[in-house]
Amino acid sequence: MTIRQDKILNYSILKQTNIEQFRNKKPFPFNQYSGLLKKGKYEQLRNELPCTELFEEQKGNYRRYGQASHDRLSLDFSSNLAISDNWKIFIEELESGQYREFICNLLKTNKFHFKYHWHYTPSAASVSPHCDAEWKLGSHIFYFNSKDDWDQNWGGQTVILDDEGKKSFKTAPKFNEFKRQIEIPCIDSHSLLFKRTDHSWHGVRRIQCPPNKLRKVFIVEFRQNKISNTIRSWFQK
Ligand SMILES: [Fe+2]
Repeated sequence: MTIRQDKILNYSILKQTNIEQFRNKKPFPFNQYSGLLKKGKYEQLRNELPCTELFEEQKGNYRRYGQASHDRLSLDFSSNLAISDNWKIFIEELESGQYREFICNLLKTNKFHFKYHWHYTPSAASVSPHCDAEWKLGSHIFYFNSKDDWDQNWGGQTVILDDEGKKSFKTAPKFNEFKRQIEIPCIDSHSLLFKRTDHSWHGVRRIQCPPNKLRKVFIVEFRQNKISNTIRSWFQK
């Protein structure tokens, strides 16, 4: 007898995505979702987030083009990682089936693989404006703080930055150099899906939260199937 596992993602929400609208969106293709993770499942995953002891501290890391470092705790998924069964089931669901099919359709290619990581960001840290590396096709950021443990006045929103198609991604602009800025809420079952372009500027302004709090996200990266990316994955980059 096979036990049918309840799906974690709410596929009816994903299906409502207007693909043409996504592709033509300015300043670059992005879409935000609310409740894409089913409520009960979201709570389970939230309660079972990997513990900080598993994470590696990234501080003052070199970034190309003179961009300021992205300071945070980071954890890459690997099959032998000590995470809860619910998280393993979630990643298995993303890996095969409807979600992957949807991303193939959105990106018009199946020549990519997923790479998963968790980022926990402490107070005073920020994510300087950047466009992501060229070898990434896009990302899906799932937010894992809730109203109960995060005050939106502390920050943490991902900010979509409109460069009006004018800035080279090989530069290091400040937030105030972008006229139009769109803030994506970072609490509850909210997520941001975007395609990487040479103008897909985004960042997170300096977080100001109490010292015992962390901004928590889970990121699905869409990486091109290239030998260089396979090597990158061996070294957990
Ligand atoms: Fe990024």
